[in-house]
Amino acid sequence: GRVKIVLMGISWLGRQTSEFADLDWENLGFGLVQTDYMYTTKCGPDGNFDKGGMVPFGPIEMNPASGVLNYGQGLFEGLKAYRKTDGSILLFRPMENAMRMQTGAERMCMPAPPVEQFVDAVKQTVLANKRWVPPTGKGSLYIRPLLVGSGAVLGLAPAPEYTFLIFASPVGNYFKEGLAPINLIVEDKFHRATPGGTGGVKTIGNYASVLMAQKIAKEKGYSDVLYLDAVEKKYLEEVSSCNIFVVKGNVISTPAIKGTILPGITRKSIIDVALSKGFQLTIALCDEYAFLLKIHKSTVEERLVSVDELLDADEVFCTGTAVVVSPVGSITYQGKRIEYAGKQGVGAVSRQLYTSLTSLQMGQVEDPMGWTV
Ligand code: COI
Repeated sequence: GRVKIVLMGISWLGRQTSEFADLDWENLGFGLVQTDYMYTTKCGPDGNFDKGGMVPFGPIEMNPASGVLNYGQGLFEGLKAYRKTDGSILLFRPMENAMRMQTGAERMCMPAPPVEQFVDAVKQTVLANKRWVPPTGKGSLYIRPLLVGSGAVLGLAPAPEYTFLIFASPVGNYFKEGLAPINLIVEDKFHRATPGGTGGVKTIGNYASVLMAQKIAKEKGYSDVLYLDAVEKKYLEEVSSCNIFVVKGNVISTPAIKGTILPGITRKSIIDVALSKGFQLTIALCDEYAFLLKIHKSTVEERLVSVDELLDADEVFCTGTAVVVSPVGSITYQGKRIEYAGKQGVGAVSRQLYTSLTSLQMGQVEDPMGWTV
């Protein structure tokens, strides 16, 4: 028995010291690959989270009467870490996730960890699971912070205790199409959010409620569902797991954030990238990026975007941490399929915004905005 334990110890140590985990890095999708450690901390009714720390990844104990299991009192976040060619690891705008968790926690009557603790916990999680950060160009480490009401309640009320937990998984492309354009269907029966509801925060319930429409869409061969507003049923909102952009001529439009749409960090970053003066200089020198001049002259509009605008759009693309920038190849609305054809099926604006954003995230270009950590 002792020999076996010693051997297990040696093999465990061996695993920990190798640079990369034993994984098929060429074929990562967006599925859970369990990593070594997770971060966890709790807070009681005073709202102060303990220092917390890393524990081996694994099941957690939860009171059957916990607020999250009974009444859905929970939030999640998502962010990614990329490995640079020099071996260093970059996070993209982790403070934005920390702040969004605070906004969501207020809406869900939960205490949230301070921004510094959140960011520090993310760093600890990535470093403890370093060997799971994919080699450069093979994907990223997706980091999933969770904030849940873990204390027991019976009558409907905020839980008396909260758990903040972070786990991570190496991931590749989100959609099974890979980088190829996705096919969406506009949903006009089910709605994702209503005014006054929780559509604008990252509460777990928002994601359970879209599973049914997504399942039906997938059975019909679509990649995902594009939601309309629940009141007039004619304005675009978002896709189940990402935001949406519509390009027409010199105008890039995206639905304005008014409480029913998740304020995506990638959405916000794409708007900033498109507006960035810095890019104009780079692009002016290089023919391939000439389209960006056009973007610069163009307006980026956050407004009500009517579903009818899909009919004559030049390009449509989705943005999100998980999906990055995903070109949309077709949208079906009331039985009519609208195709968006570009070079290799991907429009020039979507392609270049994708390249600009990902090269920043992967540390391949200067980061004038100081987004990477
Ligand atoms: C993300 O993009 O990080 C999300 O939270 C979407 C999730 C459904 C994968």
